[in-house]
Amino acid sequence: MAVERTLAICKPDSVSKNQVGEILRRIQEAGFKLRAIKMVRLTKAEAEGFYAVHAERPFFGELTEFMSSGPCVPMVLEKENAIADYRALIGATDPAEAAPGTIRADLAESKGKNAVHGSDSVENGRLEANFFFPEHVIVANS
Ligand code: RTP
Ligand code: MG
Repeated sequence: MAVERTLAICKPDSVSKNQVGEILRRIQEAGFKLRAIKMVRLTKAEAEGFYAVHAERPFFGELTEFMSSGPCVPMVLEKENAIADYRALIGATDPAEAAPGTIRADLAESKGKNAVHGSDSVENGRLEANFFFPEHVIVANS
């Protein structure tokens, strides 16, 4: 299996609830290597840019309002099979449908305020990592 990169985000709800440490603990316990991390507050325009793929969806306004409502914590993670394994770790978009023991089942409160983001493909993992982190600040495999 190939080593992949995914872009995880602790969304504004989990940051405001002081859940960043618990989320990072679960991520590292699952074998992901942390390659970059920071705290940032997105503008509405930046949130619209990040989620541009959803621009035509009915929830786009709500999503980008929420993502720009407070600080979030993006991080670049690496692991073999990182895209699928991270999405398994966080669970389904709606926490009510997320498998028991997943981050969203345990920590998220709704489909909108669902604690964390995860990239959905290898290509998007690369693009989303570089949305927040220029390549030279991402620590190399070690
Ligand atoms: P994410 O991109 O944030 O990791 O979430 P995801 O892949 O599980 O879900 P996606 O379909 O990409 O949707 C992005 C985010 O939009 C919000 N959403 N709200 N009200 C709704 O029906 C609805 N559907 C999606 C969620 O916050 C979701 O994480
Ligand atoms: Mg998505």
